[in-house]
Amino acid sequence: MTFLFHSDARRGAIFQEAFAHDLPDLPFSMDPGAVDPESVRYLITWTVPQDLQRYRNLEVLFSIGAGVDQFHIADVPPHVKVVRMVEEGIVRMMQEYVTLAVLSLHRDLPAYLIQQRTELWKPLAAVQAPERRVGVLGLGMLGQAVLERLKPFGFQLAGWSRTQRQIEGVTCQAGDAGLKKMLSATDILICLLPLTDETRGFLDADLFARLPEGAGLVHTGRGPQLNHEDLLAALDSGRLSGAVIDVTDPEPLPPGHAFWSHPRILLTPHVASVTQPQTAARAVIDNIKRLRSGLDPVGLVDRRRGY
Ligand code: NDP
Ligand code: OXD
Repeated sequence: MTFLFHSDARRGAIFQEAFAHDLPDLPFSMDPGAVDPESVRYLITWTVPQDLQRYRNLEVLFSIGAGVDQFHIADVPPHVKVVRMVEEGIVRMMQEYVTLAVLSLHRDLPAYLIQQRTELWKPLAAVQAPERRVGVLGLGMLGQAVLERLKPFGFQLAGWSRTQRQIEGVTCQAGDAGLKKMLSATDILICLLPLTDETRGFLDADLFARLPEGAGLVHTGRGPQLNHEDLLAALDSGRLSGAVIDVTDPEPLPPGHAFWSHPRILLTPHVASVTQPQTAARAVIDNIKRLRSGLDPVGLVDRRRGY
């Protein structure tokens, strides 16, 4: 029975040390060429290797990241459990990034950067936090964590998910009617939805039209959820006043793409949050211990929902 680590060697070395300490009876390998494929019970990777069928006894496919859309779950044998990464490092980094992005939009950073480039010294009227409405699409591990981190600023907070949630201090909505209600009362919209058939192309002209004029967007979900042309049109018409974009389709963004130079877009190269190997190794070890005691792992993906 082997645990196969299929990702970068730097993180692998940290996993290896943690496994040697906490699960000394489980052989750990970072070299697919050196293991007997039939011995592999656990595989951790970002993308599914093309030769996945070699691992005939695979029981669990762990994603090294929080998302699992890159796996194309339909191609993973049905008996294999798929597990997304639930670890505190990803959560903390996403809280930092979204806080940075929300405060940037709240305090008109895109407009001030334009003014700086044109040497214009002109204070803009500042909306106060209690009047600013911040809405989050997706109330899972990350959506809830960023809302928690935003609470002390005093914004009006709202969130939307597939099933109805209850979060103290947050107006929670679900379903189509709930989405419309939330969007019409959201000045800064954050996307933290997983990529599924339902959320592909979700951030489009129709959605932007439901937001109040001049709203801002923070996109930290997945690139294919955003219609690039629609975002550019919304920014150019003033429907949206600014966007902080961490994920695009494709990635990397090609040279010359309009996002690189758009004055109202703050762009980062899919770095909002990155799996931290020390905490991730601990989370995976805990999950293997759960599996060994007959429990479901934390982050078990529901194949029908796709996340
Ligand atoms: P979770 O699975 O914990 O939460 C997903 C949330 O989205 C749930 O609240 C779920 O609703 C909601 N949701 C899913 N589909 C729909 C839908 N069709 N309509 C309404 N709500 C929906 O995911 P995480 O919070 O861990 O991660 C979210 C995503 O963030 C990841 O899938 C990944 O794409 C992205 N990510 C981006 C990173 C970056 O660096 N840019 C880093 C890490 C993650 P319900 O509660 O009802 O199930
Ligand atoms: C993730 C990511 O899913 O980095 O963890 O996007």
